[in-house]
Amino acid sequence: EVQKSLRPKSFAEYIGQESLKEKMSIYIEAAKRRGGSIDHILLYGPPGLGKTTLAGVIANEMGANLRITSGPVLERAGDLAAILTSLEENDILFIDEIHRLNTTVEEILYPAMEDGELDIIIGKGPSARSIRIELPNFTLIGATTKAGLLSSPLRDRFGVSHRMEYYTEDELANIILRGGNILGVKVEKDGALELAKRSRGTPRIANRLLKRVRDYCEIRGDGVINKNISIEALEILQIDSVGLDDLDRDIITSIIENYGGGPVGIETLSLLLGEDRRTLEEVYEPFLVKIGYIKRTSRGRVVTDKAYKHFKISKEQDDE
Ligand code: ADE
Repeated sequence: EVQKSLRPKSFAEYIGQESLKEKMSIYIEAAKRRGGSIDHILLYGPPGLGKTTLAGVIANEMGANLRITSGPVLERAGDLAAILTSLEENDILFIDEIHRLNTTVEEILYPAMEDGELDIIIGKGPSARSIRIELPNFTLIGATTKAGLLSSPLRDRFGVSHRMEYYTEDELANIILRGGNILGVKVEKDGALELAKRSRGTPRIANRLLKRVRDYCEIRGDGVINKNISIEALEILQIDSVGLDDLDRDIITSIIENYGGGPVGIETLSLLLGEDRRTLEEVYEPFLVKIGYIKRTSRGRVVTDKAYKHFKISKEQDDE
């Protein structure tokens, strides 16, 4: 069986992010009329909200090629120079995790973004010299989970900067119904909504849950994804009623058990849980903050009353 892609290829298929779609369609139309490329775009926000997908849609709508790379992959200036010099007119270059570019690579980007020029130094010592290469017109789409970590010279060179929002439950349910169609599995509306409620506002998670529930449903059910079979399957996956998994639960309960609900610093939490700090900060925390289970304060992370209630933990008096 051919692996079918759930990624939408056009704005017409892309569900959600309405304000972004509206803006981008205008910029794309305008660029096409001028016969040029669109301005550089920075997309930021939590992972899984469709930044790469969107870059693909933009490229497709522009009728341009999409080249994909990422901050950590571009180790040396030459790595980026090789990509830039191989671009064709109006290509779109997508750099994921752009906040993880090192400084020497980042400095190559400035003149490339601003003047379409590549300045490189060839040779070593007294015979070293700088040469300048004219680049074709191109659009850089940068993606990051941490816009705050971008240097301001880099941030300033993007003409468009947009924060991706978590999706609503209705949008996620529609993404799941669309996914069911593509995968050829029947999904009932109440089943889609049940999965949507537990997808943490994130299409990537929605599509993953859809595939796992489909597996479950083919073996234990009648092949139709409805509300009951979804609830059964998610119980096995240990995903709770609001979409939290084991690590979410560990984060909350360990702050409560070890630090009386906080505040606690991210570094301490990372050691305590044996989890990568970046994963906690960029993947887990934003959603826990969004649903109001954790608050970020100047002294660290604090668990809220809402989280105590959800996990049915009673708040003890601090009287030691
Ligand atoms: N699959 C993943 N993200 C999607 C989106 N935003 N719209 C439609 N299908 C998707």
